[in-house]
Amino acid sequence: MLFRDTMESSAMVGVLLLIGISTLLILGENQVIKASPNKRSLDDLVFPKDFRFGVATAAYQIEGAYNEDGRGMSIWDIWSHIPGKIYMNQTGDVADDHYHKVREDVEMMKSLRVKNYRMSISWSRVIPTGLIKDGINQKGIDHYDREINMLVNAGINVAVTLYHWDLPQHLQDLYGGWLNSNEVVEAFRDYADLCFAKFGDRVKDWITFNEPFVTSVQGYGNEGMAPGSTNSSTVSPYLATHSQLLSHAVAVKVYRDKYQKHQNGRIGITLNSNFYYPLTNTQADYVACERALLFGFGWFADPVFFGDYPQVMKDFVEGGRLPQFTPEQKKLLKGSVDFIGLNHYTSNYIGNRDTPLPPVYQRTFNDDQRTIGSSYKNGVPIGPQADSDWLYVYAPGIRSILNWIQHRYQPKMIYVTENGVDVPNESDMPIQQALNDTFRQNYIHDYLAEVSKAVMQDGVNVKAYYVWSLMDNFEWANGYRCRFGIVYVDYKSSNLDRHIKNSAKYYSQVIKPYQ
Ligand code: GAL
Repeated sequence: MLFRDTMESSAMVGVLLLIGISTLLILGENQVIKASPNKRSLDDLVFPKDFRFGVATAAYQIEGAYNEDGRGMSIWDIWSHIPGKIYMNQTGDVADDHYHKVREDVEMMKSLRVKNYRMSISWSRVIPTGLIKDGINQKGIDHYDREINMLVNAGINVAVTLYHWDLPQHLQDLYGGWLNSNEVVEAFRDYADLCFAKFGDRVKDWITFNEPFVTSVQGYGNEGMAPGSTNSSTVSPYLATHSQLLSHAVAVKVYRDKYQKHQNGRIGITLNSNFYYPLTNTQADYVACERALLFGFGWFADPVFFGDYPQVMKDFVEGGRLPQFTPEQKKLLKGSVDFIGLNHYTSNYIGNRDTPLPPVYQRTFNDDQRTIGSSYKNGVPIGPQADSDWLYVYAPGIRSILNWIQHRYQPKMIYVTENGVDVPNESDMPIQQALNDTFRQNYIHDYLAEVSKAVMQDGVNVKAYYVWSLMDNFEWANGYRCRFGIVYVDYKSSNLDRHIKNSAKYYSQVIKPYQ
């Protein structure tokens, strides 16, 4: 799993997208040469007074209690139980046992002065089969009700992701999950409606989907993520994206029609993107970088801002494999976000692929994109490698991707909904050593310093930043090996004890002036 966000890909010179290319020229090359600063003070972390700092988690990664109180199975329950899919065959059955430790974890956030928390709701905990006609699970609703109340009473603003990759398994079995865009879109609309009705009086930020790209490309295009269906992977990722986008649009419509006025909240979607720097100083590689941004971020952002897929995708995904929106669907999609969420971790190099492509109906998403990706240029990595094989530390990339987003979409509000790092070999260290996580502390500082420049110098409308993650958790295919938490979870202790890492103490200092 080298590139989680873009993919290793292929060739052919595309349409020149001048604005994007000049952005890359200005921000790209200059920043590649610049080294990370050594000094980490708080002085260069300057933000507007009302900037929101928070921490993020997701239900399947922390909750556990997978078969308690009426929760239905999700695709991740089934997938993680298939031998060989996850590191050491680990599962989210117990995870951080957050389901039973909500009070303790909220207290912990309070002690760190956290004022903003991004969490997700497990769909199958509130609607076990995913279909509202089969009944809702009152115990699941009560659970989130209690959790949200605790957070609000602790003075913490809650942002809720409705879909962080955990589709109810029943919808996968019955309809093929996100490959189906009738029944599943309706099911998602009903689920979203229920959540707005039950929790919308207290939740002020709703995120419909987390990184739908990963669901489409790794869940339905290859076997990296649940449900891992490679069935006709030449069209599946495009269908999965289409269904997720339509689901997003109908959920936003429900929110705007029925709830937004009196609940006074905002709704958006969270997309992931690396930033890309050209492998060589050729025009073809600059164009390939722009194309990678459009095949990744633009695949979703163009529809929600402009109402349709990027032209370059229409040109490059040949053979009618890219679905089309009807005029009504375009209308529904266009402008369907109050804010855009960005998950950003790393940057890499991209070159144009000019080797021959397979026949049209055997092409994968990567073939269609016609780029080649690498974390190395002339044998030198773009930055130090983290624990995850896809994550190399390169802080200026976050400023570049934020500028690129601002330039292309002119959003009123961007939230960085995830940013963080796993320290190399943290799981092999004695706890005391792991708590001294200077690598993570520096990462957070350096990335935040670049976000600060984007906001204060470049005029990018970033309004919030959430560290991934509050605490170590089930890191998908990497199980519990890769630790992203600013709080350590001791998986060897019977109580899954939490220990505050130095990065958490540091972050607490950073956010202190913004309370
Ligand atoms: C994101 C994902 C998170 C977390 C993080 C670190 O892609 O949304 O759930 O796993 O990456 O890998």
